[in-house]
Amino acid sequence: MPDFHLVTQAEPERAILVAAEVSGSRPLMSMTDSLSELMQLADTAGMSVVGQVTQNVKSINPATYIGPGKLEEVQQLMTETSAKVVVFDDELSPRHQREIEKRLGEDIKVIDRSALILDIFAQHAQTREGSLQVELAQYEYRKPRLTRQWTHLARQGGGKGSAAGVGLRGPGETQLEVDQREITRKITKLKQELEAVRAHRGRQRTQRARSGLPMIALVGYTNAGKSTLINTLTDAGTYVADQLFATLDPTTRKLDLPSGRQTTISDTVGFIQKLPTALIAAFRATLEEVAEADMLLHVVDMSHPNVLQHIEAVEDTLAEIDVPPIPRILVWNKADQPPLIDPTMLPHQRHYVGEVKVSAQHGINIDGLLHAIEQGLSQTLRTTQLLIPYSRGDVVSAIYQHANVIDRQDVQEGVKLTLRVSSALADYYEEFQVG
Ligand code: GTP
Repeated sequence: MPDFHLVTQAEPERAILVAAEVSGSRPLMSMTDSLSELMQLADTAGMSVVGQVTQNVKSINPATYIGPGKLEEVQQLMTETSAKVVVFDDELSPRHQREIEKRLGEDIKVIDRSALILDIFAQHAQTREGSLQVELAQYEYRKPRLTRQWTHLARQGGGKGSAAGVGLRGPGETQLEVDQREITRKITKLKQELEAVRAHRGRQRTQRARSGLPMIALVGYTNAGKSTLINTLTDAGTYVADQLFATLDPTTRKLDLPSGRQTTISDTVGFIQKLPTALIAAFRATLEEVAEADMLLHVVDMSHPNVLQHIEAVEDTLAEIDVPPIPRILVWNKADQPPLIDPTMLPHQRHYVGEVKVSAQHGINIDGLLHAIEQGLSQTLRTTQLLIPYSRGDVVSAIYQHANVIDRQDVQEGVKLTLRVSSALADYYEEFQVG
Protein backbone atom coordinates (compact mmCIF):
# COMPACT_ATOMS: atom_id res chain seq x y z
CA MET A 1 0.00 0.00 0.00
CA PRO A 2 2.02 2.98 -1.21
CA ASP A 3 -0.03 5.54 0.72
CA PHE A 4 0.79 4.23 4.12
CA HIS A 5 4.00 4.75 5.99
CA LEU A 6 5.28 3.02 9.02
CA VAL A 7 6.35 5.47 11.64
CA THR A 8 8.23 4.54 14.75
CA GLN A 9 7.57 6.74 17.72
CA ALA A 10 9.74 6.25 20.77
CA GLU A 11 8.02 8.84 22.96
CA PRO A 12 4.53 10.21 22.82
CA GLU A 13 4.33 13.64 21.22
CA ARG A 14 3.72 16.47 23.65
CA ALA A 15 0.61 18.41 22.81
CA ILE A 16 -1.26 21.55 23.84
CA LEU A 17 -5.05 21.72 23.46
CA VAL A 18 -6.81 24.91 22.41
CA ALA A 19 -10.51 25.75 22.58
CA ALA A 20 -12.58 28.85 22.07
CA GLU A 21 -16.12 29.54 23.20
CA VAL A 22 -18.06 32.07 21.21
CA SER A 23 -20.30 34.15 23.45
CA GLY A 24 -23.97 33.68 22.66
CA SER A 25 -23.40 30.35 20.90
CA ARG A 26 -25.07 27.27 22.31
CA PRO A 27 -22.71 24.34 21.82
CA LEU A 28 -23.85 20.83 22.74
CA MET A 29 -21.17 20.57 25.41
CA SER A 30 -19.46 23.15 27.54
CA MET A 31 -15.93 24.09 26.54
CA THR A 32 -14.54 22.25 29.57
CA ASP A 33 -16.40 19.02 28.81
CA SER A 34 -15.50 19.19 25.16
CA LEU A 35 -11.86 19.73 26.08
CA SER A 36 -11.80 16.73 28.39
CA GLU A 37 -13.18 14.66 25.51
CA LEU A 38 -10.47 16.10 23.25
CA MET A 39 -7.91 15.10 25.85
CA GLN A 40 -9.17 11.50 25.66
CA LEU A 41 -9.00 11.63 21.87
CA ALA A 42 -5.41 12.91 22.03
CA ASP A 43 -4.56 10.17 24.48
CA THR A 44 -6.11 7.52 22.23
CA ALA A 45 -4.04 8.89 19.34
CA GLY A 46 -0.92 8.40 21.46
CA MET A 47 -0.15 11.97 22.49
CA SER A 48 0.78 13.32 25.85
CA VAL A 49 -1.21 16.46 26.68
CA VAL A 50 0.94 18.93 28.60
CA GLY A 51 -1.27 21.99 28.69
CA GLN A 52 -4.37 23.74 27.45
CA VAL A 53 -5.40 27.23 26.48
CA THR A 54 -8.97 28.49 26.31
CA GLN A 55 -10.54 31.75 25.29
CA ASN A 56 -14.01 33.26 25.36
CA VAL A 57 -14.43 35.28 22.21
CA LYS A 58 -17.12 37.41 20.63
CA SER A 59 -16.44 35.77 17.29
CA ILE A 60 -13.89 33.42 15.76
CA ASN A 61 -10.94 35.37 14.41
CA PRO A 62 -10.98 34.92 10.61
CA ALA A 63 -7.19 34.59 10.46
CA THR A 64 -5.96 33.03 13.67
CA TYR A 65 -9.12 31.35 15.05
CA ILE A 66 -8.40 32.55 18.60
CA GLY A 67 -7.13 36.11 19.08
CA PRO A 68 -3.58 36.80 17.80
CA GLY A 69 -2.44 37.71 21.35
CA LYS A 70 -3.84 34.41 22.65
CA LEU A 71 -2.00 32.56 19.91
CA GLU A 72 1.23 34.12 21.15
CA GLU A 73 0.34 32.76 24.59
CA VAL A 74 -0.04 29.32 23.02
CA GLN A 75 3.37 29.69 21.43
CA GLN A 76 4.94 30.65 24.73
CA LEU A 77 3.35 27.71 26.53
CA MET A 78 4.58 25.39 23.81
CA THR A 79 8.12 26.62 24.27
CA GLU A 80 7.89 26.25 28.05
CA THR A 81 6.50 22.70 27.86
CA SER A 82 8.49 21.57 24.79
CA ALA A 83 5.19 20.74 23.07
CA LYS A 84 5.40 20.23 19.33
CA VAL A 85 1.72 19.69 18.55
CA VAL A 86 -1.24 22.00 19.02
CA VAL A 87 -4.73 20.55 18.75
CA PHE A 88 -7.75 22.80 18.23
CA ASP A 89 -11.08 21.53 19.54
CA ASP A 90 -12.95 22.50 16.38
CA GLU A 91 -12.47 22.00 12.68
CA LEU A 92 -10.07 24.69 11.44
CA SER A 93 -10.69 26.19 8.05
CA PRO A 94 -7.83 25.80 5.56
CA ARG A 95 -7.14 29.50 6.03
CA HIS A 96 -6.90 29.17 9.82
CA GLN A 97 -4.62 26.21 9.37
CA ARG A 98 -2.27 28.13 7.06
CA GLU A 99 -2.19 31.25 9.20
CA ILE A 100 -1.64 29.44 12.50
CA GLU A 101 1.12 27.29 10.97
CA LYS A 102 2.79 30.43 9.68
CA ARG A 103 2.69 32.13 13.08
CA LEU A 104 3.72 29.15 15.20
CA GLY A 105 6.60 28.20 12.98
CA GLU A 106 7.85 25.31 10.88
CA ASP A 107 8.43 22.76 13.61
CA ILE A 108 4.95 22.92 15.14
CA LYS A 109 2.17 20.62 13.99
CA VAL A 110 -1.21 22.29 13.87
CA ILE A 111 -4.11 19.90 13.88
CA ASP A 112 -7.78 19.96 14.79
CA ARG A 113 -10.34 17.62 16.31
CA SER A 114 -11.31 16.29 12.86
CA ALA A 115 -7.73 15.37 11.95
CA LEU A 116 -7.36 13.65 15.30
CA ILE A 117 -10.53 11.61 14.86
CA LEU A 118 -9.50 10.69 11.33
CA ASP A 119 -6.13 9.54 12.63
CA ILE A 120 -7.73 7.34 15.27
CA PHE A 121 -10.07 5.90 12.69
CA ALA A 122 -7.09 5.16 10.44
CA GLN A 123 -5.46 3.32 13.30
CA HIS A 124 -8.51 1.22 14.07
CA ALA A 125 -9.79 0.31 10.62
CA GLN A 126 -9.45 -3.40 10.21
CA THR A 127 -11.36 -4.40 7.13
CA ARG A 128 -10.59 -3.33 3.59
CA GLU A 129 -13.77 -1.28 3.46
CA GLY A 130 -13.02 0.43 6.76
CA SER A 131 -9.52 1.39 5.62
CA LEU A 132 -10.73 2.64 2.26
CA GLN A 133 -13.41 4.76 3.89
CA VAL A 134 -10.99 6.38 6.29
CA GLU A 135 -8.40 6.93 3.60
CA LEU A 136 -11.01 8.60 1.43
CA ALA A 137 -12.10 10.82 4.31
CA GLN A 138 -8.49 11.76 5.02
CA TYR A 139 -7.88 12.81 1.42
CA GLU A 140 -11.13 14.78 1.30
CA TYR A 141 -10.14 16.52 4.52
CA ARG A 142 -6.59 17.27 3.47
CA LYS A 143 -7.25 18.28 -0.10
CA PRO A 144 -7.90 21.95 0.69
CA ARG A 145 -5.23 21.97 3.40
CA LEU A 146 -2.15 20.85 1.49
CA THR A 147 -0.08 23.87 2.30
CA ARG A 148 3.16 22.47 3.59
CA GLN A 149 4.60 19.26 4.81
CA TRP A 150 1.92 17.31 6.54
CA THR A 151 3.76 15.48 9.22
CA HIS A 152 1.81 12.80 10.90
CA LEU A 153 0.39 12.50 14.30
CA ALA A 154 2.23 10.45 16.82
CA ARG A 155 0.91 7.04 17.39
CA GLN A 156 1.60 4.28 19.80
CA GLY A 157 0.70 0.69 19.42
CA GLY A 158 -2.60 -0.45 20.74
CA GLY A 159 -4.99 -0.80 17.87
CA LYS A 160 -5.10 -4.17 16.22
CA GLY A 161 -2.77 -4.27 13.26
CA SER A 162 -0.14 -2.06 14.79
CA ALA A 163 2.81 -3.32 16.69
CA ALA A 164 3.85 -1.52 19.87
CA GLY A 165 5.39 1.80 19.04
CA VAL A 166 4.67 1.40 15.37
CA GLY A 167 1.52 2.52 13.64
CA LEU A 168 0.04 2.50 10.21
CA ARG A 169 -0.12 5.97 8.88
CA GLY A 170 -2.83 7.52 6.79
CA PRO A 171 -2.07 9.27 3.56
CA GLY A 172 0.34 12.19 3.79
CA GLU A 173 3.96 12.65 4.73
CA THR A 174 5.58 11.97 1.38
CA GLN A 175 2.30 13.28 -0.08
CA LEU A 176 3.87 16.64 0.54
CA GLU A 177 4.63 16.97 -3.13
CA VAL A 178 1.33 15.58 -4.20
CA ASP A 179 -0.68 18.34 -5.75
CA GLN A 180 -4.43 18.81 -5.75
CA ARG A 181 -4.84 17.03 -9.07
CA GLU A 182 -3.07 13.96 -7.82
CA ILE A 183 -5.30 13.90 -4.74
CA THR A 184 -8.40 14.21 -6.86
CA ARG A 185 -7.18 11.26 -8.90
CA LYS A 186 -6.65 9.25 -5.72
CA ILE A 187 -10.09 10.16 -4.41
CA THR A 188 -11.67 8.91 -7.64
CA LYS A 189 -9.70 5.68 -7.44
CA LEU A 190 -10.64 5.12 -3.80
CA LYS A 191 -14.29 5.68 -4.60
CA GLN A 192 -14.10 3.05 -7.34
CA GLU A 193 -12.42 0.56 -5.03
CA LEU A 194 -14.99 1.24 -2.35
CA GLU A 195 -17.78 0.65 -4.80
CA ALA A 196 -16.37 -2.75 -5.67
CA VAL A 197 -16.03 -3.73 -2.00
CA ARG A 198 -19.52 -2.49 -1.29
CA ALA A 199 -21.08 -4.40 -4.15
CA HIS A 200 -19.79 -7.52 -2.44
CA ARG A 201 -21.12 -6.45 0.95
CA GLY A 202 -24.42 -5.49 -0.64
CA ARG A 203 -24.74 -9.08 -1.81
CA GLN A 204 -24.05 -10.35 1.69
CA ARG A 205 -26.65 -8.00 3.06
CA THR A 206 -29.26 -9.22 0.59
CA GLN A 207 -28.52 -12.75 1.70
CA ARG A 208 -29.00 -11.69 5.28
CA ALA A 209 -32.26 -9.98 4.49
CA ARG A 210 -33.32 -13.17 2.72
CA SER A 211 -32.79 -15.11 5.87
CA GLY A 212 -35.84 -13.14 6.93
CA LEU A 213 -34.51 -12.48 10.40
CA PRO A 214 -35.34 -9.09 11.88
CA MET A 215 -32.27 -6.86 11.91
CA ILE A 216 -31.16 -4.99 15.01
CA ALA A 217 -28.40 -2.37 14.92
CA LEU A 218 -26.48 -1.07 17.91
CA VAL A 219 -25.73 2.64 17.89
CA GLY A 220 -24.16 4.82 20.54
CA TYR A 221 -21.58 7.36 21.54
CA THR A 222 -18.01 6.17 21.44
CA ASN A 223 -17.04 4.09 24.47
CA ALA A 224 -20.67 3.53 25.54
CA GLY A 225 -20.14 -0.23 25.58
CA LYS A 226 -21.63 -1.43 22.29
CA SER A 227 -18.94 -4.02 21.60
CA THR A 228 -19.12 -5.31 25.16
CA LEU A 229 -22.89 -5.63 24.81
CA ILE A 230 -22.75 -7.50 21.52
CA ASN A 231 -20.18 -9.84 23.08
CA THR A 232 -22.32 -10.44 26.14
CA LEU A 233 -25.38 -11.02 24.00
CA THR A 234 -23.78 -13.27 21.43
CA ASP A 235 -20.24 -14.20 22.45
CA ALA A 236 -19.17 -12.50 19.26
CA GLY A 237 -15.60 -11.80 20.29
CA THR A 238 -15.70 -8.18 19.08
CA TYR A 239 -12.68 -6.11 20.06
CA VAL A 240 -13.41 -4.31 23.33
CA ALA A 241 -11.10 -1.60 24.62
CA ASP A 242 -11.31 1.43 26.83
CA GLN A 243 -10.38 3.56 23.89
CA LEU A 244 -12.38 5.80 21.67
CA PHE A 245 -13.46 4.21 18.41
CA ALA A 246 -12.11 0.73 19.09
CA THR A 247 -14.77 -0.67 16.78
CA LEU A 248 -14.81 0.62 13.29
CA ASP A 249 -16.11 -2.10 11.11
CA PRO A 250 -19.59 -3.48 11.39
CA THR A 251 -19.91 -6.90 12.96
CA THR A 252 -23.08 -8.87 12.50
CA ARG A 253 -24.10 -11.85 14.60
CA LYS A 254 -27.17 -13.95 15.23
CA LEU A 255 -29.04 -13.35 18.45
CA ASP A 256 -31.45 -15.78 20.10
CA LEU A 257 -34.46 -14.26 21.82
CA PRO A 258 -36.19 -15.81 24.86
CA SER A 259 -39.07 -17.07 22.70
CA GLY A 260 -36.57 -19.09 20.64
CA ARG A 261 -36.84 -16.79 17.65
CA GLN A 262 -33.71 -15.34 16.13
CA THR A 263 -32.62 -11.91 14.95
CA THR A 264 -29.39 -10.50 13.59
CA ILE A 265 -27.54 -7.85 15.55
CA SER A 266 -24.85 -5.50 14.16
CA ASP A 267 -22.36 -3.29 15.89
CA THR A 268 -21.59 0.04 14.23
CA VAL A 269 -19.00 2.75 14.46
CA GLY A 270 -19.27 4.90 17.59
CA PHE A 271 -20.47 8.46 17.26
CA ILE A 272 -19.00 11.60 18.78
CA GLN A 273 -19.93 15.27 18.81
CA LYS A 274 -18.40 17.27 15.95
CA LEU A 275 -17.80 14.11 13.91
CA PRO A 276 -15.89 15.29 10.83
CA THR A 277 -18.19 15.82 7.87
CA ALA A 278 -15.76 14.07 5.53
CA LEU A 279 -15.95 11.03 7.76
CA ILE A 280 -19.74 10.95 7.91
CA ALA A 281 -19.80 11.17 4.12
CA ALA A 282 -17.28 8.35 3.77
CA PHE A 283 -19.10 6.13 6.25
CA ARG A 284 -22.55 6.85 4.90
CA ALA A 285 -22.77 3.53 3.07
CA THR A 286 -21.77 1.54 6.15
CA LEU A 287 -24.21 3.50 8.21
CA GLU A 288 -26.95 2.70 5.75
CA GLU A 289 -27.15 -0.64 7.50
CA VAL A 290 -28.46 1.28 10.46
CA ALA A 291 -31.18 2.79 8.30
CA GLU A 292 -32.28 -0.66 7.14
CA ALA A 293 -32.56 -2.13 10.62
CA ASP A 294 -35.92 -3.11 12.09
CA MET A 295 -34.88 -1.79 15.47
CA LEU A 296 -32.06 0.25 17.01
CA LEU A 297 -30.50 -0.32 20.41
CA HIS A 298 -29.11 3.02 21.47
CA VAL A 299 -26.43 2.17 24.03
CA VAL A 300 -25.48 4.94 26.46
CA ASP A 301 -22.94 5.14 29.25
CA MET A 302 -25.09 6.17 32.21
CA SER A 303 -22.01 6.71 34.36
CA HIS A 304 -20.76 9.51 32.11
CA PRO A 305 -21.53 13.06 33.24
CA ASN A 306 -22.34 14.11 29.67
CA VAL A 307 -24.69 11.24 28.93
CA LEU A 308 -27.59 13.50 27.88
CA GLN A 309 -25.36 15.37 25.43
CA HIS A 310 -24.13 12.02 24.13
CA ILE A 311 -27.70 10.93 23.46
CA GLU A 312 -28.35 14.16 21.61
CA ALA A 313 -25.17 13.87 19.54
CA VAL A 314 -26.14 10.34 18.48
CA GLU A 315 -29.66 11.45 17.57
CA ASP A 316 -28.24 14.36 15.58
CA THR A 317 -25.89 12.08 13.66
CA LEU A 318 -28.70 9.62 12.94
CA ALA A 319 -30.77 12.49 11.57
CA GLU A 320 -27.81 13.67 9.50
CA ILE A 321 -27.49 10.29 7.80
CA ASP A 322 -31.26 10.23 7.21
CA VAL A 323 -32.11 7.29 9.42
CA PRO A 324 -35.90 6.86 9.33
CA PRO A 325 -37.92 6.74 12.57
CA ILE A 326 -36.98 3.15 13.34
CA PRO A 327 -38.18 2.05 16.80
CA ARG A 328 -35.43 2.40 19.38
CA ILE A 329 -34.65 1.02 22.79
CA LEU A 330 -32.51 3.14 25.04
CA VAL A 331 -30.01 0.88 26.78
CA TRP A 332 -28.61 2.56 29.88
CA ASN A 333 -25.32 0.68 30.15
CA LYS A 334 -22.78 0.54 32.99
CA ALA A 335 -25.56 0.25 35.59
CA ASP A 336 -22.96 -1.29 37.90
CA GLN A 337 -21.54 2.23 38.31
CA PRO A 338 -23.11 4.95 40.44
CA PRO A 339 -25.55 6.80 38.15
CA LEU A 340 -24.89 10.47 37.62
CA ILE A 341 -28.34 11.29 36.38
CA ASP A 342 -31.82 9.97 36.85
CA PRO A 343 -32.14 7.56 33.93
CA THR A 344 -35.82 8.35 33.56
CA MET A 345 -34.87 11.88 32.49
CA LEU A 346 -35.08 10.94 28.84
CA PRO A 347 -34.76 14.16 26.87
CA HIS A 348 -36.84 13.12 23.90
CA GLN A 349 -39.05 10.10 23.86
CA ARG A 350 -39.44 10.19 20.10
CA HIS A 351 -39.21 6.76 18.47
CA TYR A 352 -38.31 5.06 21.75
CA VAL A 353 -40.37 1.98 22.50
CA GLY A 354 -38.55 1.13 25.69
CA GLU A 355 -35.62 1.73 27.97
CA VAL A 356 -33.61 -0.77 30.00
CA LYS A 357 -30.80 -0.48 32.52
CA VAL A 358 -28.04 -3.06 32.05
CA SER A 359 -24.40 -3.73 32.66
CA ALA A 360 -22.95 -5.31 29.57
CA GLN A 361 -19.69 -6.02 31.35
CA HIS A 362 -21.22 -7.63 34.42
CA GLY A 363 -24.14 -9.29 32.66
CA ILE A 364 -26.70 -7.38 34.72
CA ASN A 365 -30.29 -7.46 33.40
CA ILE A 366 -29.42 -8.94 30.02
CA ASP A 367 -32.65 -10.95 30.26
CA GLY A 368 -34.56 -7.72 30.76
CA LEU A 369 -32.97 -6.35 27.61
CA LEU A 370 -33.80 -9.46 25.61
CA HIS A 371 -37.43 -9.24 26.70
CA ALA A 372 -37.52 -5.55 25.79
CA ILE A 373 -36.14 -6.40 22.34
CA GLU A 374 -38.73 -9.10 21.89
CA GLN A 375 -41.52 -6.79 22.97
CA GLY A 376 -40.22 -3.90 20.87
CA LEU A 377 -39.87 -6.10 17.82
CA SER A 378 -43.41 -7.36 18.15
CA GLN A 379 -44.50 -3.72 17.87
CA THR A 380 -42.47 -3.29 14.71
CA LEU A 381 -43.78 -6.42 13.07
CA ARG A 382 -46.62 -6.29 10.62
CA THR A 383 -49.43 -8.74 10.02
CA THR A 384 -49.49 -10.45 6.67
CA GLN A 385 -51.35 -13.36 5.14
CA LEU A 386 -49.76 -15.92 2.85
CA LEU A 387 -51.14 -18.75 0.78
CA ILE A 388 -48.53 -21.44 0.23
CA PRO A 389 -49.20 -24.34 -2.15
CA TYR A 390 -49.00 -27.80 -0.59
CA SER A 391 -46.04 -28.54 -2.90
CA ARG A 392 -44.00 -25.97 -0.93
CA GLY A 393 -43.75 -27.66 2.43
CA ASP A 394 -40.20 -26.27 2.67
CA VAL A 395 -41.53 -22.71 2.75
CA VAL A 396 -44.11 -23.57 5.39
CA SER A 397 -41.52 -25.09 7.70
CA ALA A 398 -39.10 -22.17 7.15
CA ILE A 399 -41.86 -19.76 8.11
CA TYR A 400 -42.60 -21.65 11.30
CA GLN A 401 -38.93 -21.31 12.17
CA HIS A 402 -38.64 -17.58 11.60
CA ALA A 403 -42.00 -15.99 12.04
CA ASN A 404 -44.75 -15.69 14.55
CA VAL A 405 -47.66 -17.69 13.06
CA ILE A 406 -50.94 -16.39 14.44
CA ASP A 407 -53.35 -18.49 12.43
CA ARG A 408 -53.29 -21.45 10.06
CA GLN A 409 -55.99 -22.73 7.77
CA ASP A 410 -55.53 -25.64 5.43
CA VAL A 411 -57.65 -24.70 2.41
CA GLN A 412 -58.02 -26.30 -1.01
CA GLU A 413 -55.21 -24.28 -2.69
CA GLY A 414 -52.69 -24.71 0.10
CA VAL A 415 -51.81 -23.55 3.60
CA LYS A 416 -53.11 -20.12 4.55
CA LEU A 417 -50.96 -18.55 7.24
CA THR A 418 -51.47 -15.30 9.11
CA LEU A 419 -48.14 -14.02 10.37
CA ARG A 420 -46.53 -11.23 12.36
CA VAL A 421 -43.26 -10.58 10.54
CA SER A 422 -40.56 -8.00 9.97
CA SER A 423 -40.84 -5.98 6.79
CA ALA A 424 -37.77 -7.83 5.46
CA LEU A 425 -39.45 -11.19 5.86
CA ALA A 426 -42.77 -9.95 4.49
CA ASP A 427 -40.95 -8.71 1.38
CA TYR A 428 -39.16 -11.99 1.01
CA TYR A 429 -42.39 -13.99 0.90
CA GLU A 430 -44.16 -11.44 -1.25
CA GLU A 431 -44.95 -14.00 -3.99
CA PHE A 432 -47.22 -15.91 -1.57
CA GLN A 433 -48.89 -12.84 -0.15
CA VAL A 434 -52.69 -12.69 -0.26
CA GLY A 435 -53.45 -10.04 2.33
P1 GTP B 1 -16.38 2.36 20.40
O1 GTP B 1 -15.58 1.30 19.77
O2 GTP B 1 -15.62 3.57 20.75
O3 GTP B 1 -17.62 2.69 19.64
O4 GTP B 1 -16.81 1.82 21.87
P2 GTP B 1 -17.94 0.80 22.31
O5 GTP B 1 -19.24 1.51 22.46
O6 GTP B 1 -17.95 -0.41 21.43
O7 GTP B 1 -17.44 0.44 23.79
P3 GTP B 1 -16.68 -0.86 24.34
O8 GTP B 1 -17.61 -2.03 24.34
O9 GTP B 1 -15.38 -0.98 23.63
O10 GTP B 1 -16.50 -0.44 25.86
C1 GTP B 1 -15.84 0.73 26.26
C2 GTP B 1 -15.35 0.60 27.68
O11 GTP B 1 -16.45 0.52 28.60
C3 GTP B 1 -14.52 -0.68 27.93
O12 GTP B 1 -13.49 -0.37 28.82
C4 GTP B 1 -15.51 -1.61 28.59
O13 GTP B 1 -14.89 -2.58 29.40
C5 GTP B 1 -16.34 -0.64 29.41
N1 GTP B 1 -17.68 -1.16 29.72
C6 GTP B 1 -18.55 -1.72 28.85
N2 GTP B 1 -19.67 -2.12 29.51
C7 GTP B 1 -19.50 -1.79 30.80
C8 GTP B 1 -20.32 -1.95 31.97
O14 GTP B 1 -21.41 -2.50 31.97
N3 GTP B 1 -19.79 -1.46 33.14
C9 GTP B 1 -18.57 -0.87 33.21
N4 GTP B 1 -18.17 -0.43 34.40
N5 GTP B 1 -17.79 -0.71 32.13
C10 GTP B 1 -18.23 -1.18 30.94
